[in-house]
Amino acid sequence: MKLNPQQKSITNSTRRGLRFFDNQPVAQDILTEVIAGLSRPQKVLPAKYFYDEQGSKLFEAITKLPEYYPTRIEINLLRQHREAIAKLLKEDVWLLEYGSGASLKIRLLLQAIKPNCYVPMDISKDFLLASAESLMEDYPWLNVYAACVDYSQPIRLPADMITSAQKLGFFPGSSIGNFSPQEAQVFLQGVRNTLGKDGAMLIGIDLQKDKQVLEAAYNDCQNVTAAFNFNILHHINRVLGTQFNVDYFEHKAIYSEEKSRIEMHLVSTMDQIVRISDSNTADGESKNITFKTGESIHTENSYKYSKKGFTDLVEGAGFEVRECWSDDKDYFAMFYLHCC
Ligand code: AVJ
Repeated sequence: MKLNPQQKSITNSTRRGLRFFDNQPVAQDILTEVIAGLSRPQKVLPAKYFYDEQGSKLFEAITKLPEYYPTRIEINLLRQHREAIAKLLKEDVWLLEYGSGASLKIRLLLQAIKPNCYVPMDISKDFLLASAESLMEDYPWLNVYAACVDYSQPIRLPADMITSAQKLGFFPGSSIGNFSPQEAQVFLQGVRNTLGKDGAMLIGIDLQKDKQVLEAAYNDCQNVTAAFNFNILHHINRVLGTQFNVDYFEHKAIYSEEKSRIEMHLVSTMDQIVRISDSNTADGESKNITFKTGESIHTENSYKYSKKGFTDLVEGAGFEVRECWSDDKDYFAMFYLHCC
């Protein structure tokens, strides 16, 4: 029997000062999702499976690549506008970060905003805890309440996180681009409910631009993005005991102007069969996944928006745009939203 996330939830406080809420997805859920994705005519794997510990480290490396502009621009925007952001907020603020990773960007905001509590949310539990602890060392005054959650699913936060403080959601890096515009709207409606009446949201958006600039950002010369893409197979091999051989796949990233998205694929370089079975139970799910040469697994979408397009999207989700800051080339924007 499958437990639903609420039933799996436990709250513990094993570490002094750090409160922790664990809702980590279990192997059974991953197996079901992986088999479903790889059984479709266009094979897909959810992009969240990039982020095991190694994947999180590879992503950190991507953010430092010369071709990958979003992180650098966003950091500049946060530095430039953090005091203005702080002025827009109330006295007592809880800061909730969706997909906190190494909790690096938040450091740019903490001094200015001085939140009562920081809630990093991430799917990668060990990375989440290590990052939260390192943050607490550097900011001794900060209350941290880490939550291991899959934010692509509806989040039910524990009751003791529901406070009367103003909530500021922080969703940097254009991670919302992993969702289709429709999914993004549903996600933002959920965030809107979590943040409540006075809630605000700070969200980074990669803007539509020249195809060459976009494709270079996902095909870097050092092949770090390729390694990041291959790591999704290493991660699945480790968690599910499958035997994907990354040597039999190629990294591909292309921009579709029609769909306004970067698509990342792993393209099979030969005809091959990969067996996926549930090693935990005798009668578990099991499946042979066949690949023809040139057939791909679609591993990621990264949607790019116009300012107008993103404004329409958030308005459909119950937010209004209060501010929109961007760099002088209009490569990347930071939106400050308020719940309506
Ligand atoms: C973390 C989803 C914003 O789409 O640019 C970077 C992930 N993938 N290079 C992005 C990513 C390949 C990144 N997001």
